[in-house]
This record gives sequence, C-alpha cells and structure tokens, in this order.
Amino acid sequence: METIQSIKGFADLFSPESDNFSFLEATAREVFGRYGVSELRTPILEKTELFARGIGGETDVVQKEMYTFEDKGGRSVTLRPEATAGVVRAFIESGQHAPERVSKYFTIGPMFRYERPQKGRLRQFHQINCEVFGTDAPHCDAEVMLMLATFLKSVGLSGLSFEVNSLGCPECRPTFHQRLTDYFAGLDKGKLCADCLRRTATNPLRVLDCKVAACKDVVAEAPRIDDNLCPSCKTHFDTVLSILDAAGLAYTRNPFLVRGLDYYQRTTFEVTSTNIGAQTAVAGGGRYDGLVELLGGPKVPGVGFAIGMERLALLLAGREPARKDFYLAVLDEKALDQGLLLAQKLRERGLSGEVSFAAKSPKSQLRLANKLGVKTCLLLGGEELAAGTIVVKSLDTGEQTSMPQEQFLATLG
Ligand code: HAM
Repeated sequence: METIQSIKGFADLFSPESDNFSFLEATAREVFGRYGVSELRTPILEKTELFARGIGGETDVVQKEMYTFEDKGGRSVTLRPEATAGVVRAFIESGQHAPERVSKYFTIGPMFRYERPQKGRLRQFHQINCEVFGTDAPHCDAEVMLMLATFLKSVGLSGLSFEVNSLGCPECRPTFHQRLTDYFAGLDKGKLCADCLRRTATNPLRVLDCKVAACKDVVAEAPRIDDNLCPSCKTHFDTVLSILDAAGLAYTRNPFLVRGLDYYQRTTFEVTSTNIGAQTAVAGGGRYDGLVELLGGPKVPGVGFAIGMERLALLLAGREPARKDFYLAVLDEKALDQGLLLAQKLRERGLSGEVSFAAKSPKSQLRLANKLGVKTCLLLGGEELAAGTIVVKSLDTGEQTSMPQEQFLATLG
C-alpha cells in the first residue's frame, strides 16, 4: 500500500520537541497564573468575517494566508490564523465585561496560515497567547511585557531583544498617514516594490516594515511615527518606557515596527532572536483599543501578545531532557511477571522508568539502559527471582549492590 504523508507545513511533534512544547505550556500556565491570567479555550474554526473584520482586509494574513472554506451549510469558515480575534469574540459573546474590571485571558493552541514553509515557519503552528481587556493604562502595557519577559526568563531564555514602538491612535494616526502618503507620492515610482506601491494607497504604514532592501532605503528617510504622536500617545508611550526602564527590562525603540495585523494602536512590541534563521520574531503584540468595538462589543480597550511556540522550541533545542529514574532489566523469562509488578510499584511510589518485556543478556540490557539515559539500572535474573532480591546499579558511579526487593522499596518511602 502507498503510504499517506502529512500535509506540507503541518508537523508531527515527537519527543524531545513535544517535551519542549509541554515545558513551555506548563511554564506559561504557572507564570501567567502569578499575574492573574486565566485560561480561555476558544474554537479553532470561526466565521471568516471575524478575521476579515478583526485583522483587516488589507493584511497579508487575510489577503493571502487564511485557510478558508465553505462548510456543508454553505457558510464561509476559517481556521484561526491567530487567537486575538476569537478571544475578543468570546469576550463580547460571553458578556464577561464589567466596567472597572480588568479581564485577563491566556490561550494556547494551533493557528493556521498558508505561508511558504521554512525553518520556524509552518502552516500549522502553535501560539501561547495573552489578552487583557478593560484598561488603557500604560501600566498594563508594561505589565504584559514584563510578564512576557518573566516567562522567557523562566524557560531559560533571557538574552532575547525587545523592540518597542507606538503606532499612535485615531487622533494622531491620520495626520501621520497623510505625511507618509505625501512622502511616498513625491518619490519616483520605481523606488518601491510592487506590493508597497499598492500599500501606499491602501495602508502606507505597512510599507514601513517591508523587508525588500530598496523599500528599506526609502523608509529610512520617511517621516517617523515617534515625531508624529499626539500628546496623550506620547505620554502613554513615555510612561510605558519609564516603567520598563525602572523594572530593568532592556529594549530597543524601533519606529519601523508596525506589526502585520491592522488592529494595533499605541504600544506595539516584538521579541526577536537571531538564532532561528530568517524568521526572527519569537513573540509579538501590542495595544488594540478599538478592536472590541470593531467586532460589535462595548468600548473596551485591550492589549496582548502571542508567543510562537515552534520558534521558542528551536531556541530550546539543546535543552537536556528530564532523566528517567530507572530501567528494570529482566534477565530471565521466568522473571518477566515479577519485573513488571516491581516496576509498577516503583511508579506508584513516584519514580519514572521502563521495564523490559523480553529477557535479554545483562550486556545488552545495560547498553539499552545507558542509551535511555536513566539514573539506575535494576537487574532481575533467575537468581534474584528465587531470592526475592534485586541488583541496583548506578549508571553514574557504576556502583552495584544486591538487596532484598522489600528493602529497596522501603528506601523509597
Ligand atoms: P503575530 O506577530 O502574527 O501576532 O504572531 C505572533 C508570533 O507567532 C510570531 O512572533 C511568531 O513567533 C509566531 N508565528 C506567526 N506566524 C507563524 C508561522 N507561520 N509559523 C510559526 N510561527 C509563527 C499575532 O498573532 C497577534 N495575535 C499577537 C497579539 C495578541 N497581539 C495582541 N494580542
């Protein structure tokens, strides 16, 4: 029979990669819990309109990357390309908002974007996502960034760069848009790539983060958002930065950081690494004060971020897997039952390890135990079976002792 292969850009995760994913998830749950963020699980499939309206019709995500299809009822549905729009929908639909209350949610799971797969870029990828609703205080922007930094430190990645920017608000952004549009209009048409030429009319901000070298040259001379913020956006941004300074979080201001989704206002940020190939963004987020209203909800501000798990897992690739405690090597057919029962007792006492299902020579069993990287190899042969003993061999020191099984179990409590 012909084998059936997975879909391009959709990966299977075996250990140790799956262990790294579990580790990231467990750490996020623990760290986010310290900040009062509770878990929300939203569906993977949503109405297409949610993303078209929420993320923005001009974005690459909506224009080119969505897995959209008609369900059997003829409705257009989409596999979520990101979590924020769905979380906002759930927040509105549940009626959870209460004035004076800040609501904080995290969600973990797969997202889908039809991009060209490469290292760190998949079509099904996973995010750890956090959203906070109900306050426009700059302190909240600082808190989510500090929480992200605490999470990264907790998983052992403290050397990553934070880039921050402010994109202004509906007050000051139109003026900045106009300045940008005027600047681009005054240029020779050949200076921008075809995509950016189109963007100058539809969304000039997006030109600022184009990766094409010629566009980058043009952008370097363009009007800068930080010179065009209204007083309240400027105060907001200054407050965020001063809290980050006081907390000792190192960051770089990047006036060209605009993010790929249209809902952002004011603070935006990205965490980048140069060690994961061409895809440098490990996490990204920002404030989206108009999104809840845009999706039909009350006037509630929000801020959040998402971490790309595959990219973080690449950075964790060298992490030592947790060592199992034992390998119980059965050396005699007749001892197979007792070996299994003894291994069961060890696991009931909290130890981790495996037992052989077939009797083999001590030499091959020890080779396997070393390969598994366990701390201790337990050897159970015909002699031990008759005497009710077990041979305990430390694979760290090579030391070996024989003792009654009951005594061995008693040492474990
Ligand atoms: P985003 O920047 O589109 O933001 O994605 C966040 C992270 O997801 C990226 O920094 C990257 O690590 C990872 N990522 C994105 N696309 C892929 C892919 N094709 N393969 C692997 N990893 C990928 C958002 O999604 C926003 N919803 C974040 C947010 C939450 N903003 C506010 N709240």
